Amino acid sequence: MKLLLIGSGGREHALAWKMAQSSKVEKIFVAPGNGGTAIENKCENVNITEIKDLINFAIKENIDLTVVGPEDPLTKGIVNEFKKAGLKIFGPAQNGAMLEGSKSFSKDFMKKYNVKTAEYATFTNVDDALKYLETCSYPTVVKADGLAAGKGVIICVNKEEAIEAVNTCMVDDTFGDAGKTIVIEEFLEGIEASILSITDGKTIIPFLSGKDHKQIFDGGKGPNTGGMGVMAPNPYVTEEVMKDFEENIMANTLVGIREEEFDFKGIIFFGIMITKKGVYLLEYNVRMGDPETQSVLYLMESDLVELIEAALREELDKTTVKWKDGVCINVVLASKGYPGNFTKGYEITIDEKVKDKVFLAGAKLEDDVLKTNGGRVLSVIGCGSNVQEARKEAYENIKYVNFKDSYCRTDIGIHK
Ligand code: AMP
Ligand code: GLY
Repeated sequence: MKLLLIGSGGREHALAWKMAQSSKVEKIFVAPGNGGTAIENKCENVNITEIKDLINFAIKENIDLTVVGPEDPLTKGIVNEFKKAGLKIFGPAQNGAMLEGSKSFSKDFMKKYNVKTAEYATFTNVDDALKYLETCSYPTVVKADGLAAGKGVIICVNKEEAIEAVNTCMVDDTFGDAGKTIVIEEFLEGIEASILSITDGKTIIPFLSGKDHKQIFDGGKGPNTGGMGVMAPNPYVTEEVMKDFEENIMANTLVGIREEEFDFKGIIFFGIMITKKGVYLLEYNVRMGDPETQSVLYLMESDLVELIEAALREELDKTTVKWKDGVCINVVLASKGYPGNFTKGYEITIDEKVKDKVFLAGAKLEDDVLKTNGGRVLSVIGCGSNVQEARKEAYENIKYVNFKDSYCRTDIGIHK
């Protein structure tokens, strides 16, 4: 098979690495890819990003299957466009992708189908939103409706902060159109978990759970990032939590997907909060998480391409996913200054000894030299039979990867 993989993050390097292991796969084009996919087995980067150009490329190269990494093209309807052109593609069509593309749409969906989630209200008018802040309890959460590159969620400890957050979204237009509508939501206290899963619209198969570490500093301090490291499985996702999730979130979501007749053959990622009152859904994503993918796929025993093909044939009910035992941790090595300003262009050196343990993200290959090209530059993997062993290996491996002004958290796998 010839595959086309869309995206350029650490998630896509991990996807490319995993799919390249399939004996069915001859070649993977990655559009636009990064420094990791540039050197990965069977892979070749192609510098294409526009949907119409991707379609032309897929036709010209006789691509057998296209896999979409990030949410942006999915919410723009890339799956609808590829299908119209008669091309095989894995991911939800635009209507289902709005479960990530619009917070108000996804909260309304959760409410309609009884998916357990925080109380909320939606506003399109700033005065109504400000009036609501008089009566709600604090902390409260203000969310820009649309995609805001992970920055559109503001936790407000008091009314003053909430007024500022509403103004940031609706008056200052900091998130552009994404913030013209906002959701104000009940604050939930608990422990977060990421449950990625695959669906064919009839069955959902959850993957191993993950524990992301969102804040930049140790101890969960400082601003939120895209994720500084992930442990899989997530030790807080006990059998009891999983049962609660499957009964009150996953099953109802599947009913909703069917009733709404979404054309959804893709990944659905549940961001959950485990609270004293049970498991709540914080959000849906319609793609794999980054850096969840790096740890979760590392432990996947099954052939991912076969799994995707089963989903496209609507045969997930006859499919099981096999996992390796143990724990996998990936620690993100970032550019100092991220998620604020940072410098790009530093040379990255990776010792031969750990080259199979590194997934590149914000990195590019320039004249055969790997250089930093983003905030989260790469992830280093460590596996073991328990958390301590996995942590030890990850932090040992990281010593063999270097670039100027690199930064990582030291508590991945131990912080709640
Ligand atoms: P979201 O994009 O909706 O997942 O929000 C991003 C992050 O904001 C989540 O991973 C949580 O850490 C936090 N968050 C979102 N909604 C809530 C909530 N209702 N209560 C507490 N924290 C929240
Ligand atoms: N790591 C969280 C996300 O991908 O949304």
